[in-house]
Amino acid sequence: MCGIVGYIGNKPIKEILIDGLRELEYRGYDSAGIAVLQNHQFSLFKAIGKLINLEEKTKNFETTGFSVGIGHTRWATHGKPTELNAHPHVGENSCVVHNGIIENYQELKNMLIQQGVKFLSQTDTEVIVHLFEYHLRTAATPFDAFTQTLKKLKGSYAILLVSASADETIFFAKNGSPMILGRNGEGETLFGSSDAALIGKCHEVIYLEDGQYGVATAQTIALYDQFNHAVELRFIPLSENKLSAQKEGFRFFMEKEVYEQSRVISDTLMGRLGDERIYFEELDATLFEGINEIKLCACGTSYHAAMVASYLFERHSKIRTSVEIASEFRYREPFLTHDTLFVVISQSGETADTLESLKMAKKAGLKTLVICNVDNSSMVRLADASILTRAGIEKGVASTKAFATQVSVLWMLSLMLAGMRKTLETTEIKRQIHLLRTLPATVKVDEALHEQLRRLSKRYLNGHGFFFIGRDVFFPLALEGALKLKEISYLHAEGYPSGEMKHGPIALADPGLYTIALLPQHKLYDKTKSNVEELSARDSTICSISPLDFNKADDHIRTKLSEDYMVEFFEMMVVLQLFSMEIAIRLGNDIDMPRNLAKSVTVE
Ligand code: M6R
Repeated sequence: MCGIVGYIGNKPIKEILIDGLRELEYRGYDSAGIAVLQNHQFSLFKAIGKLINLEEKTKNFETTGFSVGIGHTRWATHGKPTELNAHPHVGENSCVVHNGIIENYQELKNMLIQQGVKFLSQTDTEVIVHLFEYHLRTAATPFDAFTQTLKKLKGSYAILLVSASADETIFFAKNGSPMILGRNGEGETLFGSSDAALIGKCHEVIYLEDGQYGVATAQTIALYDQFNHAVELRFIPLSENKLSAQKEGFRFFMEKEVYEQSRVISDTLMGRLGDERIYFEELDATLFEGINEIKLCACGTSYHAAMVASYLFERHSKIRTSVEIASEFRYREPFLTHDTLFVVISQSGETADTLESLKMAKKAGLKTLVICNVDNSSMVRLADASILTRAGIEKGVASTKAFATQVSVLWMLSLMLAGMRKTLETTEIKRQIHLLRTLPATVKVDEALHEQLRRLSKRYLNGHGFFFIGRDVFFPLALEGALKLKEISYLHAEGYPSGEMKHGPIALADPGLYTIALLPQHKLYDKTKSNVEELSARDSTICSISPLDFNKADDHIRTKLSEDYMVEFFEMMVVLQLFSMEIAIRLGNDIDMPRNLAKSVTVE
């Protein structure tokens, strides 16, 4: 989704802004732009497509000495991905970049048009800069004009605004979209919509809160809250580690992230596995007091992790568990009771629908927990408690290691609850803790298997669709397998509970229908096998994934014999991730930044 950077200082600004935008590329975008203010003059550059196009346009643009600048990668919401709609948006003497949505933009636009303002773009963002200049005519100072502008905006935003009327300054505001402010002791102030853009450029940051706004120069920063009270600047150190953000020899970030799963699962388990119990030191036992139900809420891949958890929580912890798609939950007037623990799951911690659902639950007085990969993200700051998944920066738009660590955390949580509620024997908890310890080895990519998937992928390019099928936790895994394939191959794929096929979908069976069948040895093997046989009898092309032989399949991917279905789950997860990736590579697609998708979906 959109990315923002800002810089005030003496270094060559073009490089700083474009480097920062490159760090945000993984979020997905369709155009980019920068605006630089130096000696009262603006230089503005915009380009559609990838950053390389913006670099080409700016190749003859150099600055020396002090300047102020803002940059943006745009993922189109209001208006097509064109240069005119790309940010920064300009007024007569000011420029703005914005993430989020200004909900009342049409009303503001109509008012400004009546005042004679001419609009160049179809975006909601452009009203911000014109509204600022409208207030500038009468306001005592440019900062007053900025605060008056903010008062008129409804919706979510992270905003940076630069104006020749205050030419060593960036005005900034945050409400519902992330914005981080950084400094480095070298007379520079920086902004980013994610800390990825700031790593290596500054050593301390402030994660702005909703409603905060202010004004920054190279030396001074004034920060205010939603009630216009001055806020004390509380900087916190920013990690310097950029290593995890590089591809390290892999063809794609997605591939690197699949191969990293062994290490990140180790990190996720670290310090949390006792001999016969699970430790989440970040959780206070009072969080679970009086709780009789768990409601899990998430989007996309995180929703699939939530579905897996619903099986584990009920099976292990004997607690009523429901799962909600956040975009549905928000508007269906859910009946919420105070004995429910509301758990949101999110890689980014910024997904708009999940964040709003969390706000709703909090407002309704529920206890809340977030399982998240990004510390200091909006959800982590909002929820009563948080568990970090420790997957490291995930750059591939198609989520892999985040899912692996989410399921690991949720499995551990189910055992912790089972211990607290005494719903599993200690011997069983110990057995499962042992299984958890084997996960890093389980998900280690076997090169021979990867090679088999690479070869097999050529046979799965031309059908009319895919069904991924499984039972129990292998049903959400089937959904996740189908989502992975859809996202990066653009082929039609659906996930189904295998027992449901005969209730309609089997009508599609023919040789052009590819069935990817998850046949674990230790969970409902015979039941699933009969469902796959039904499809095979109707000539669907079958690719089975199982540790056991299956002679009704056209292709068979053999997984290792293991002692438990959850271990099989993790091994099959890796197979599905790599299989989708190899199919998409053969189709020549952009693996890390698939079309139409964004890494972090901060609009609803
Ligand atoms: O950051 P989140 O986990 O909240 O994101 C939720 C979904 O947008 C995300 O999982 C999406 O479905 C991924 N592209 C899946 O690969």
